[in-house]
Amino acid sequence: MAEKTDMNKDVSKILVSEEEIHARVKEMGKQLSEEYEGKNVVLVCILRGAVHFFSDLARAMTCHMEMDFMSISSYGNGRKTSGIVRIAKDVDTNITGRHVLIVEDIMDSGLTLNYLTKLLRERQPASLKIACLLDKPSRRECDITPDYCGFVIPNEFVLGYGLDYDGYYRNLPYVGVFKQE
Ligand code: IMP
Ligand code: MG
Repeated sequence: MAEKTDMNKDVSKILVSEEEIHARVKEMGKQLSEEYEGKNVVLVCILRGAVHFFSDLARAMTCHMEMDFMSISSYGNGRKTSGIVRIAKDVDTNITGRHVLIVEDIMDSGLTLNYLTKLLRERQPASLKIACLLDKPSRRECDITPDYCGFVIPNEFVLGYGLDYDGYYRNLPYVGVFKQE
């Protein structure tokens, strides 16, 4: 069982190291600070996968911001998104007329963020953009791309720095490839 094994043994290779993540997130924070200076942005964390990225990115940004949290689940646990998304927790902020930046762990098929951006756009924010730590463009099933992306990665199932397999491995400090048994 996942909780009894050494987590590192379930990783076949480290795809993005802790150092690489922190350097890139710092860089993104600098760029986003310039983009959102004077705009009073609302940073929206998509729980639970984006938790570390959100926290590090927000602290790498120097502009004024509000933070809010959204929890969504797409039906089907494990590795495949169904495309049917349920909002478990909505943002508390009224985003009408506000600049909104969605912070997500990974864009895979794109179905989750495609649904989410459609929903949030109906509330007429002043702007709505997406920052993803990881992007797997080869898996895309709809016409969407992150406005800001940390790393483009190949079509492999990854874990760590917030990303999970069946709820586990989110606390690994790096992004690694899940060992196929
Ligand atoms: P999408 O709707 O297919 O773009 O899937 C987005 C969600 O699927 C992400 O927020 C993750 O929760 C999950 N996901 C996609 N690829 C991976 C992966 O390689 N590892 C862990 N979770 C993933
Ligand atoms: Mg997720």
